This record gives sequence, C-alpha cells and structure tokens, in this order.
Amino acid sequence: MATFIVLLGPPGVGKGTQAEILANTINLAHISSGDLFRENMKNQTELGRLAKSFMDKGELVPDDLTIAMIRDRIKHPDCEMGAILDGFPRTPTQADALAVMLAEFGGKVDAVPYITADENVIVERISGRWTCRAQGHIYNEKTSLPKQKGICDIDGSELYQRDDDKATMVSKRIHVYFEQTMPLVEYYRTKGLLIETDGMQPVEKVTSDLLSTLKK
Ligand code: AP5
Ligand code: MG
Repeated sequence: MATFIVLLGPPGVGKGTQAEILANTINLAHISSGDLFRENMKNQTELGRLAKSFMDKGELVPDDLTIAMIRDRIKHPDCEMGAILDGFPRTPTQADALAVMLAEFGGKVDAVPYITADENVIVERISGRWTCRAQGHIYNEKTSLPKQKGICDIDGSELYQRDDDKATMVSKRIHVYFEQTMPLVEYYRTKGLLIETDGMQPVEKVTSDLLSTLKK
C-alpha cells in the first residue's frame, strides 16, 4: 500500500529541506509543486509561462493548472510506493482534488506534518537561501553551506537566489499563505491527520521529530 505524506507550513519553514531528507530516508518520491513550476519555467513550457505570471507576484497559480500538473506527476512509476508532497495542496480545492486522485490510485493522505516557525525566523531563512539550478537542492548561507561557494554538493550545478525570495515578495507570500492555505490546518486536523511539528529547531531535530511521529 502506497504512503502519501503532505508537508504543510509557511514559506521558508523548511518543507523542501525536510521533504528531500524524508524522501531519501523512507524511500518515497519527493513532489514539490514549486520545483515543478520552476522546471517548467526553465524549459519555457506554456505551463511555465502561465505559472511565472502568478509566481512573480507572489500569488498562487490557479487551482486547475496546479491540480493537472500534480495529477500528471503522481502517475509516474516512482510514486508507486507513495510520495512526500511539498507545497501541494495549498487550497481546500486542491486538497479535495488530491483526495479524489489518490482514491483513483487506491491511496489516501496518510499524515500531514504541519511545520511552524516564527515569522522573523522564516524571513531570515529565506533571505539566506541558495537553491541549486539543476534539481532544486537547498542551501543556506548561515545554516547549510555548500562545500564550495556557489556550487551544489550533489550535482555540481550553480546555486542561485529565487526571484520570489526578495523581501517584498516574501511578505506577500506569507500573506497569501495565511489567507489561502491556513484553512488546510483545520481541514486536516478534523480528519485526524495533522501532526504539529516545531520547525524552529535545527534541521536534524526537525527530521527526527518527523520520523518518530510518522512511525506511530
Ligand atoms: P514554493 O516553491 O512551494 O515555495 P514556498 O511554499 O513559499 O516555500 P519555500 O520553498 O519558500 O520554503 P520551504 O518551506 O520549502 O523552505 P526550505 O526548505 O527551502 O512555491 C513558490 C511559488 O510557486 C508560490 O508562491 C506559488 O506562486 C507557486 N506554487 C507552488 N505550489 C503551489 C500550489 N500548490 N498552488 C498554487 N501555487 C503554487 O528552507 C528555507 C531555508 O531555510 C533554506 O535556506 C534552508 O536551508 C533553511 N532551513 C530549513 N530548515 C531549517 C532549520 N530547521 N534551521 C535552519 N535553517 C533551515
Ligand atoms: Mg520549498
């Protein structure tokens, strides 16, 4: 039976960081909606062009485009045993669509770790983030330096700062998160799936908390 875990939390809290570690540790696929949009932008697809017009404003990409993209991704063979979903769903409409698509594959959402941190901490984390151009591996100039400045340890590609990580855009993204994504906290709490996780701790401690609650 496949396992699907949804990571919920504000921008910069560490969803991508934890999703990458968890996916490698428990052998699940890592699906990041933000990474998929950025890949489409890099490849100059029609979806990438459409998504860019929303991402550049710190707004959510419309539900229909986002749901169709995830539906395609979840069909890939690497998701047969399940996946860690990072950044999707982000609206109640997306959460309903996820439940329907997983049911079609005989699966369901099994757990929803909700990672939290104070706003000043997430703003600081985002301002120090460097992302790998090839595959989206994540670094931080204070807490997670690459071995060689500006180069990804894993695939050797260039590290860059995301366009939407500028200070004005970050406050817009946090606002959008509170308005459109926060309802999912209650949505999943009422289903008994929410696992509150303290994201203020060092990366390794957040990982061990997540692993111990996911095993229960
Ligand atoms: P997306 O790419 O998903 O961005 P986000 O949700 O804003 O989250 P981030 O990627 O900024 O943060 P994160 O939680 O992954 O943190 P990270 O691990 O990198 O979305 C971008 C845009 O795409 C959206 O604005 C929207 O336009 C569109 N989009 C995406 N999904 C969508 C959807 N479902 N529907 C509609 N539109 C969608 O960590 C941040 C930094 O902190 C890193 O430098 C890291 O090294 C560091 N760090 C992490 N954990 C710790 C720790 N415990 N201690 C110290 N440092 C840490
Ligand atoms: Mg991310």
